[in-house]
Amino acid sequence: MHLRPIEQTQGANLYEQVANRIQTLIAEGTLQPGDRLPSVRKVHQQMSVSISTALEAYRLLEDRGLIGAKPQSGYFVRSVKSPPEPDRSSPAQKACRVDTSLVFQVNSMVRDPDIIQLGAAVPGMDLLPLSTLNRLMGQVMRHNPALAHSYSPPPGCIEFRRAIARRLLDADCAVTPDQIVATHGATEAVYLSLRATTQPGDTVAISSPSYYGLLEALATLHLRALELPTHPREGICLDALETALKQKKISACALVSNFSNPLGTCMSNENKQALVELLAEYQIPLIEDDVYGDLSFNGDRPKAIKAFDRHGLVLYCASYSKVLSPGLRVGWAVPGCYQAQVERLKLTVNMSTSPGSQLAIAAFLANGGYDRHVRNLRRAYEQQMLQMIQAICNYFPEETKVTRPTGGHVLWVELDPHFDTMELFQKAGQHKISISPGIMFSPSRSYGNCFRLNCGLPWSPKVEQAMETLGRLIREG
Ligand SMILES: Cc1ncc(COP(=O)(O)O)c(C=O)c1O
Repeated sequence: MHLRPIEQTQGANLYEQVANRIQTLIAEGTLQPGDRLPSVRKVHQQMSVSISTALEAYRLLEDRGLIGAKPQSGYFVRSVKSPPEPDRSSPAQKACRVDTSLVFQVNSMVRDPDIIQLGAAVPGMDLLPLSTLNRLMGQVMRHNPALAHSYSPPPGCIEFRRAIARRLLDADCAVTPDQIVATHGATEAVYLSLRATTQPGDTVAISSPSYYGLLEALATLHLRALELPTHPREGICLDALETALKQKKISACALVSNFSNPLGTCMSNENKQALVELLAEYQIPLIEDDVYGDLSFNGDRPKAIKAFDRHGLVLYCASYSKVLSPGLRVGWAVPGCYQAQVERLKLTVNMSTSPGSQLAIAAFLANGGYDRHVRNLRRAYEQQMLQMIQAICNYFPEETKVTRPTGGHVLWVELDPHFDTMELFQKAGQHKISISPGIMFSPSRSYGNCFRLNCGLPWSPKVEQAMETLGRLIREG
């Protein structure tokens, strides 16, 4: 096998690029489990990198669980067992009311510091740049005392909106700062967007399963949900959406576009474009939640659906909760045609998003080392996810299905059709482990045999022990 020389691309570490190239060869089957990898010296010569870069690349692949070293023999491709993936969902295609009482119960476990958080989609705090954020927060408060303590009426601080407009270019969205509204996290952006586009009693088309925060917003606004069949890799079924549109059943569509929660779906550009065109034909708005978009494992930031929007019908919502700080509560909306409504609603609901937080995020984006931080974070999430999948192979029953997201930090696990993950949730709680039972993600309470796992926590003997315990509880039934 001959490896082409590597050309360093901007923003990526050389050893990471070498590792990614070899990972591609493994993923495509050119290198099979058990195959010996080219020697470190060969990588050095053929890819035109130093010996230490080649070694570091192999160490990274080892950390990712893809290769192993044998004494005196070199490196081999590991036979990572790959559990089957769940199929496309087939929800009852009937609009239903949303009841989210369980969500509160599960989320209340987040407050218990003794619980291993495999339930809520929270990042490990050790992975976040807290000290840099704290330093920048102090700086912006000192340099802008009046501004930081004033109301910051919609659309929000210009420094923040300028920084977001620049970042949105990575998602292929060319928007001006004036088109951005600062919000209290993505949760508020989605809530305001739903309020701006619907009336109580209306029906909103959603993926199935869907993020329970969205379901809560639908419940609060007295909206009904129409669950669409959804494939873990391709996303919602556009034919089913078209049928609903033809029958004039829906007033809006709402979904997570990239590395969705809970399925981990990243829609292809073709599907994103087809979705935008289909909705434009019927003049139906789309609420796009893109909180995980920067967390692609291969480093290529996927496009937002908003990038394909020619009519201002996409209301783009996102935040830095998954990448920088969930507690600062800084998010934003790009509401397109609904800008005036969203700004007015924002003013009514809570007047302003904390200007100190907006300025701290803007400062981090300007000079806090955002790109470097995200590179490290996605590498950590990818590694943690691989380790969780490996633990599922080791400890869960053989027929267990699990998604294979290419970004983000959640996994969707499907057990035997008769299994009850609500019971598992109760039993796991007694062992101080939280999971998110499948029925939380469906207004029709489907997915009773599924649950979501958070991979945001750094891998540790404690997390491994929790996975082993979960596996035992599942086997015991
Ligand atoms: C898809 C999705 N949207 C929004 C949120 C919440 O975002 P924020 O903290 O910015 O309100 C989450 C958190 O789990 C999420 O998974």
